[in-house]
Amino acid sequence: MTYVAAPTRYETMPYRRCGRNGLRLPALSLGLWHNFGHDRGIEVQSDIILRAFDLGVTHFDLANNYGPPPGSAEENFGRVMARDLRAYRDEIVVSTKAGFLMWPGPYGEWGSRKYLLASLDQSLERMGLEYVDVFYHHRPDPDTPLEESMGALDTAVRQGKALYAGVSNYSPEQTRQAAAILRDLGTPMLIHQPSYSMFNRWVEDGLLDVLDEVGAGSIAYSPLSQGLLTDRYLNGVPEGSRAAGSSPFLTAEGITEEVLRRVRALNAVAERRGQSLAQMALAWVLRGERVTSAVIGASSVPQLEDSVAAVGNLEFDADELAEIDGYARVD
Ligand SMILES: NC(=O)c1ccc[n+]([C@@H]2O[C@H](COP(=O)([O-])OP(=O)(O)OC[C@H]3O[C@@H](n4cnc5c(N)ncnc54)[C@H](OP(=O)(O)O)[C@@H]3O)[C@@H](O)[C@H]2O)c1
Repeated sequence: MTYVAAPTRYETMPYRRCGRNGLRLPALSLGLWHNFGHDRGIEVQSDIILRAFDLGVTHFDLANNYGPPPGSAEENFGRVMARDLRAYRDEIVVSTKAGFLMWPGPYGEWGSRKYLLASLDQSLERMGLEYVDVFYHHRPDPDTPLEESMGALDTAVRQGKALYAGVSNYSPEQTRQAAAILRDLGTPMLIHQPSYSMFNRWVEDGLLDVLDEVGAGSIAYSPLSQGLLTDRYLNGVPEGSRAAGSSPFLTAEGITEEVLRRVRALNAVAERRGQSLAQMALAWVLRGERVTSAVIGASSVPQLEDSVAAVGNLEFDADELAEIDGYARVD
């Protein structure tokens, strides 16, 4: 069956400007870090991606190493693009990144010009795309001059292989310097991709201020704390969940009674608001418009639908915010 996008797709999703740049992103974006490798069926992947697009999620976030195996999420996304979304390319923002280990030897990770430009060529080949919308440096490299890494992003944009440049996991000071270098090169920093959730608030200690200052947007990753800030683990660790798998990033041992006590208390706040916990966690990240978009993961269409419905209520009163702080602030 030929896929035809839902005519209603732009009716409910808010789109927010990336800092002082022209590009607007959906309040919720879909990330393909987990659940889109060759370890999952292509049909469920394609169902999630197409349902997301039907719900106004115009932005898909990838990286060279997403899988497993590394590279396979880009290959699978490329298959869905080629089969179903080719006609909608101009309605879609695709991002990819380079920075983590991708191939052996001295040129397969970090931030050299050699690595970044070769990696982008490989990503385009895997996805079958002529260009990505956003190319990110995935993590700061302590041993490569920032001028070299930012110069490579600028080259990618000048070559037409990326439309915009971004950075991820950079500290406030690294971000300020990177933005200045990019500005001087004539390729403004579009966006920063940091981790941010009710449980992880480091961006509030300076990064969001720097982004305001330099005019870049922000897209918060792991806003559900990889599933902790949902109902996923309320009654134990279910089969097939991230914590039940081999991911080193979320383990069953990490889900302690103390964590669950907090999650249950937050769940009660969400219930009073008439939201699922996932919806409240996403609304919280998006409150006040300082964050441009939240990039979510999903392993099923119902999860995606539940999360996207967060846009129905992004407002909090002061009492709710204080109560959430009481349960979620871990510092
Ligand atoms: N730049 C970086 O360094 C970096 C790092 C990490 C992530 N990211 C980006 O951020 C994206 C999102 O990261 P993430 O997957 O960790 O984000 P997340 O949204 O915090 O967690 C996603 C997981 O939460 C569970 N979930 C999602 N919606 C749910 C719902 N409505 N109800 C119950 N459970 C739900 C699912 O777990 P199950 O799989 O267990 O079902 C899902 O895989 C990535 O795909 C990637 O694009 C970037």
